[in-house]
Parts: sequence; C-alpha cells; structure tokens
Amino acid sequence: MTETDFSIRTFRGGYDDNFTYLVSCMQTGTQFIIDAAIPLHKIKPYIHTKIHAVLITHTHGDHTAHLDEILNEFPDAKYIGYENLVNQNSKFEFSPVNDKDRILLGKLNIDVIYTPGHFPDSVCYLMENIIFTGDTLFVGRTGRTISAKSSTNDLYHSVYDKILSLPSNTLIYPGHDYGEKPNISLADNIKISPLLQAKSEKDFIDRMAYYEANRKQKKRRN
Ligand SMILES: [Fe+2]
Repeated sequence: MTETDFSIRTFRGGYDDNFTYLVSCMQTGTQFIIDAAIPLHKIKPYIHTKIHAVLITHTHGDHTAHLDEILNEFPDAKYIGYENLVNQNSKFEFSPVNDKDRILLGKLNIDVIYTPGHFPDSVCYLMENIIFTGDTLFVGRTGRTISAKSSTNDLYHSVYDKILSLPSNTLIYPGHDYGEKPNISLADNIKISPLLQAKSEKDFIDRMAYYEANRKQKKRRN
C-alpha cells in the first residue's frame, strides 16, 4: 500500500453531536467532505479553493442537512453515496457507488464498503487505515437499529464480516461524537464495546436488545 499525505479536519455540531469531516489531499490540494451535518460557514475558512466531492454515509436527514448548501456553493462537487438511496435529500446530480467501488480524490483512494443495518443505504468509506463509519459504528458501540428500515441482522453482518475483519490498527471516524473520545482504533473499540464482543449473530441480537433496554443516554437518536 502506498502511503499518501492527507489531513482530516473534524467539525462537531449539527443535529446531535454529529461529525462532518473535511479531508485534504496534501499533494494535490483536493478537498472533500464526509457527511453534510455542519453549516458551510463553519467549514469555509478551511477550504482552499473548492470542494471536489461530498460523500454521504447514509441519507438520514442529519447527515445531509447541509448538502445542498454545499453543492450550491460548489456545483462541480460530486455528490457521492450508496447507489440505492432511501431518501432523495438533494436536488443535485448524484454519483452512485456500490460495495467494493474505489473512489479516487486527488491521490487518495477511498474504498466503499456497503454496510446496511442502521439504514439500508449505509456505507463506510475506507481511506488507508481510516474508516468513516457514519452511524454503523461509533466509539463504544454500534449504531442503533430503531428506524423502520433498520435491520439488526444486517448490522451484525456489516460490522462483524466487513469492519471487524479490517486490520486492528484501523481508526474509526464515526458519524456522531457519542464516545469517550472522537475516534478510536478498531482493537481498542472492541475492548470497550460489549456490542463488538458477540459470539454469534444471535448473541449480537441479544446484546442489542439488552443495550436498548438499559441505555442511559436517552436523548441520543442513533
Ligand atoms: Fe442515522
């Protein structure tokens, strides 16, 4: 694997301690945004010339809240998300991606991992050892499956087959600031997360039910 030079600026806010990430390829100056949860004026001071793409992890409204605001300002930016969107939250042209697709932005390769469960159009974006997980995986737990279109079974396979099989030094960059710190390695996240220690699909479903029955932060939405 060729290591490239990038920076990630994290913005926290939006509907429910959401994260938006501004990623910059340091070799080409190419910049793109992961999730559109934060007003553009907060990101703008860090944009050099333009935004080349907006990558959406899923179409829950808090993750697309400022999508058209960004695309209005940067109409050449590609709007990227899973090919079969549940919610059409933008009037702009859409660039669909699917599992195992590779997106090239500047010199940065981003691999698309389709991860349904929290929502049917959930994807994660893997950039070298960084994975942007949206609401599929947070620091300390998985996403929830309380939407009408959620599936705990699908979430199990997405998380256990596709994410936990990544190298243990992979860094999780989640869609919300729900944990004890903004990001965490996969190995450390497994250590602190009972929902990542299931022995089987049935065990995971039991653990999710236990979590829902005992959760303390009732105000959290995801
Ligand atoms: Fe969500």
